[in-house]
Amino acid sequence: MGANKYVGYGRFQYQNHRLHCENIPLAHLAQSYGTPLYVYSRAAILENAHAYLAQAPAGSLVCYAVKANGNPAILRLLAEAGLGADVTSGGELFLALHAGFLPEKIIYSGVGKLPHEIEAALDANIRALHVESARELEQIALIASQRQQIVPIGVRVNPDIYVETHPYISTGARQHKFGVSPETAVSLFHFATQHPWLKPVGIAAHIGSQIQEIAPFTASAEFLVGLADELASSGIQLEYIDVGGGLGVQYASKKWEAQSEKIEQWMTGVAKPVQNAGYRLVMEPGRSIVAAAGALLTQVVYTKSQGGKQFAIVDAAMNDLLRPTLYKAHHEILPVDLTQRRRGAEKYDVVGPICETGDFLGKERPLPSLSPSDLLAVFHAGAYGFAMSSNYNGRLRPAEVLVDGETTYLIRHRQTYANLLK
Ligand code: LLP
Repeated sequence: MGANKYVGYGRFQYQNHRLHCENIPLAHLAQSYGTPLYVYSRAAILENAHAYLAQAPAGSLVCYAVKANGNPAILRLLAEAGLGADVTSGGELFLALHAGFLPEKIIYSGVGKLPHEIEAALDANIRALHVESARELEQIALIASQRQQIVPIGVRVNPDIYVETHPYISTGARQHKFGVSPETAVSLFHFATQHPWLKPVGIAAHIGSQIQEIAPFTASAEFLVGLADELASSGIQLEYIDVGGGLGVQYASKKWEAQSEKIEQWMTGVAKPVQNAGYRLVMEPGRSIVAAAGALLTQVVYTKSQGGKQFAIVDAAMNDLLRPTLYKAHHEILPVDLTQRRRGAEKYDVVGPICETGDFLGKERPLPSLSPSDLLAVFHAGAYGFAMSSNYNGRLRPAEVLVDGETTYLIRHRQTYANLLK
């Protein structure tokens, strides 16, 4: 089989038939750090982050959604690049502050903020807490009054926009748990305006993740502008409109698409209505910054064929990368070494060692005929990959490395059995 059947992605390309991340052969990384291993390209992360910063209108705030990938080194990179952070728990707030994100660039979204998490956000003086229910606003008001501290708040509204994505990650329809109805939002803003320690500053929506179309984002931005204008006419002047995250990536495409171009189109779609109405733009992108910058490197342990199927049993599993199991998500899988000519194409189910039939990384994947110790790379694993990993089946969380040209940094140690006892 010719090597040219397999084509790399972005910063992961074949050089002399060996798959590299930037200038480092993936096989060297496997040798030095073991597998399974998350490998990230520093250049790819920065390219996407800079695309957001360059395209955003002046005065905008690009808040990276920490949930996509909270590795401290990656967070530091993004904080240094000038991004803000969107956090969703006390833990993410801790990580964001630790990484050096400026508190005035941190927003906190989430439906179930605990009192101690609200306190931590007030201790840090973050840009705003985004409220998702009347009860939560009462809780924040109580803490603000006790502390006699003015708290900037935004309200997350549910715009009731249906989007084409996996049902588990569509978030902006009326029946979802997120945000509040437009009517409730108006009453929360009135409550906050009259409260001595609450200061309404923004309005937010997040309609879902992995959305490929620009139109629903524009519709959501227009909806928020309409609501902000309505509030302005009753004397409540907001500073910003937060359009959430959600620009999707092309997981299955064979043709590499520069994410920066899609970011440009997305920005035009959301910025126009917000700018025209004179508000600042806030956004919370996660996946589109880190997904394509990361790959999961894994080694074949055994192969076997049964029931008319060929299985490649690898050393990565659903505890390392949950997306295929949880969402039936497609991640491209490529062989790392194409130096030896191999016999014919085979179709493999690439599966892990976990005791569930749902433990697979890919099904019916065309790959060269595989043997134990062959390396495979699973692409677009930089977002919601390590972030959703677990110790299921007593498996250790994998190591993570960041590649910068010819240099590699170990940015998270592989767990040891001692971690299973803590
Ligand atoms: N802002 C809020 C309030 C969110 O809930 C999310 C994602 C984002 C921003 C970032 O969205 P992004 O730009 O990454 O699409 N585990 C799933 C994705 C869950 C997304 C949850 N919220 C997956 O692996 O596809």
